[in-house]
Parts: sequence; C-alpha cells; structure tokens
Amino acid sequence: MILRGPRVTLRNTTLDDVATLVAIRSEPEIERRWGILEEGEIEEFVIDARTFAVEVDGEIVGAIQYDEEEDPMYRRAGIDVYLTSPRHGRGLGSEAVRVLARYLIEARGHHRLTIDPAADNVAAIRAYEKVGFRPVGVMRSYERGPDGTWHDGLLMELLADELIDETSDPTGWFEDLYRAAERGEAVVPWDRGAPWLLLVQWAEERGLDGTGRRALVVGCGLGDDAEFVAGLGFDTVAFDVAPGAVRAARRRFPDSAVHYQTADLLDPPPAWHHAFDLVVESHTVQSLPEPHRRQAIARVGPLVGPGGTLIVIASSRDEDERVEGPPWPLSRAEIEDFATDGLEPVRTERMDDPADPGVRRWRAEFNRPLSSTQI
Ligand SMILES: C[S@@+](CC[C@H](N)C(=O)[O-])C[C@H]1O[C@@H](n2cnc3c(N)ncnc32)[C@H](O)[C@@H]1O
Repeated sequence: MILRGPRVTLRNTTLDDVATLVAIRSEPEIERRWGILEEGEIEEFVIDARTFAVEVDGEIVGAIQYDEEEDPMYRRAGIDVYLTSPRHGRGLGSEAVRVLARYLIEARGHHRLTIDPAADNVAAIRAYEKVGFRPVGVMRSYERGPDGTWHDGLLMELLADELIDETSDPTGWFEDLYRAAERGEAVVPWDRGAPWLLLVQWAEERGLDGTGRRALVVGCGLGDDAEFVAGLGFDTVAFDVAPGAVRAARRRFPDSAVHYQTADLLDPPPAWHHAFDLVVESHTVQSLPEPHRRQAIARVGPLVGPGGTLIVIASSRDEDERVEGPPWPLSRAEIEDFATDGLEPVRTERMDDPADPGVRRWRAEFNRPLSSTQI
C-alpha cells in the first residue's frame, strides 16, 4: 500500500529495506528513544503489514507503524515513528503522522488515535500537536531507556474530527522555520543575503526610478528585495505572513526606510487594492499548495494600481511535469494566470538564473493600463 502527502510517501516495507532501516534505527539519537536495536528486530518489523517506510524524493528517511485495539468497546489505533536525525526539524515527522492518521480515520474507521512520545521529547510533542494530538497525561516510569532507568511517557490522543489537515494551515511552517532560525536551530533556505539578480537586472535595464511612487514586496522574507526596491526611491511596503520574517528583516536592516509588516496575501488589507505603482512577487505563491496557490496568484494583480507594474520571479516547471513541493515551481499557465483584474502581460521570459546556471526561472512583467479602472 502507498499513502502520499505533499512531501512524504509511506509505502509498506519489505525485506529489501532491512539494511537502510538498520542504519537509521541504530543512530544514537534513535536508540536513545527506541532502545538498543536487537538481533532480528528489523526483519520482524518490516514484514508487518502495518509498517511503512517514510520516503522523501525516493529516499528512505525513516519508518512509521501503527497498532490497533480491535475490542469494539475500546477500539483505537496507535502510531510510532522515527526519522533519520539529519531530516529532523523540517515537518516531515508531522507530515508522516498526519498521512497515516488520515488513513486510520478514513480507511480503517478509527475514531480515536494515540501516540506516546517520551515526556521530555519536546520536538516530537510539538510535531504531534501540529497534527492535532493533545496531551492527556504523563505516564510515570512508562518505558525503560538503554541506560536501564525508567522514563516518563506522554499519552497524547486525537479524535477523528480533530485532525489538522495540512491544507488548513498552508503557511504555518514558515513561522516555525523563522522561529527555529531565530533560536539558531535552522537556516532559512532562501536567505541569500542579496536581492534576486533577475530583479536587479530587470530594474537596471529600464533605469527604474521610484521617486514619488509606491511599491509593495510580497512575501518579503528577510527583506533583501524590499531594501533594493526602496533603494530605487520607492516608498516601499514589504509584508510576510510570518511575523518571524518581519522581525528578522527589521533586525537585519534597523535603519531601513521600508515599512515591514505582517499580512497574508490570501487576505490582504483592503487599503492595498489598486494602491501600488510596483508590485514585486518573488517565489511566494510557489511555496503554497493548491488550492491556496491559485487563490494567491489571483490576489496579486488587484494590488497593482492604474499604470502600475507587476514583476513576478519564480522557479519554472514544464506543464506536464509533476512536482512534490514545497516549493511547487510555476507552469506557464500559472504565470499567465497573474493577468487578472485588468492586468495585461507585457513580457514573459523563461531563462537560466544568472546566479545559478541550469536553474530555469520565470521573469514575467504585467501592467495595469491607466484606463482599466475607469470603466
Ligand atoms: C520561498 S520564501 C521567498 C522569500 C523571498 N520573496 C525571496 O524570494 O527570497 C516565501 C516567503 O513567502 C512567505 N509567505 C508564504 N505564504 C505567504 C502568504 N500567504 N502571505 C504572505 N507571505 C507569505 C513566507 O513566509 C516566506 O517568507
């Protein structure tokens, strides 16, 4: 059986997976939680039909298993999961648990699921809470560790209607990431410390002067594009759905003229309607799953004022190319969808990223004719 999430695939294990899972299960961090690996344990584990390999991009990154109480009076299912340590902290554990939880509820008809991390395993508890599990109570001296001492466990449970679907909070993981970066526990993968060269070259080619004009930078992240735009003379507003991004940008540019603020592209402030002479959208909408991506694309155009310009920079994919996001690079049809609400396409280029040859990106420009709002 195969169960799929946005990034992870769960598939039933076979004896061919033994070597990989022995290597992962023997990692010190996992043995600390799961006990010392015993002879023959993995062989028994992989032939159980309730065991799945957790795969990302075709690579096994861990395993997940469920058990079931079949007594009709006490029916429930329990979940156990481990992931290789280098893959921790990216939400993959939450996603694997969510995918299996959905299967147990929808296909196996369970109304109640349980999971029992060690009471001091804060990261695991946080990951299960994101799926909707709630702490019930501490089970004292619940399990014996490899050091021979007894440790407390936390009983957590989830009732069927409490499952948090990943599409219900498509942007929550950004704030988690920015906060982890603040604590020094993660790096922000799109932190390049400079504006996008495709944006810089585009602005330089037309000698863009923002004096007396307003600009909006969508999903501004750490602020490099916003600072560049403000440097061209635009009175610049830059927003991000993650308060952690806004904090980081302000910290990074303490004397900035940019108005950084927290806002959601999916529900932008009404005052921004047709309000900006330049709107910059770089790599934000491609970070959202459907149906949010389509909605986000439709929200960008209405931010452009009469006579204003929208510049979109995004990773590209072929129309028939399947991608497991995030991110979900945009197809030509998705780029064309920015032309809504009276916006007209000016130029769409698909080109090698000058800073990263071999990576194909879109740079697309749209314009709102001066007359389009006067109809
Ligand atoms: C992949 S990063 C790109 C950041 C920056 N624009 C760049 O190109 O480097 C996507 C950014 O969009 C933000 N974001 C995602 N969804 C958003 C939304 N609905 N509204 C505002 N910002 C959003 C994320 O928090 C993140 O900072």
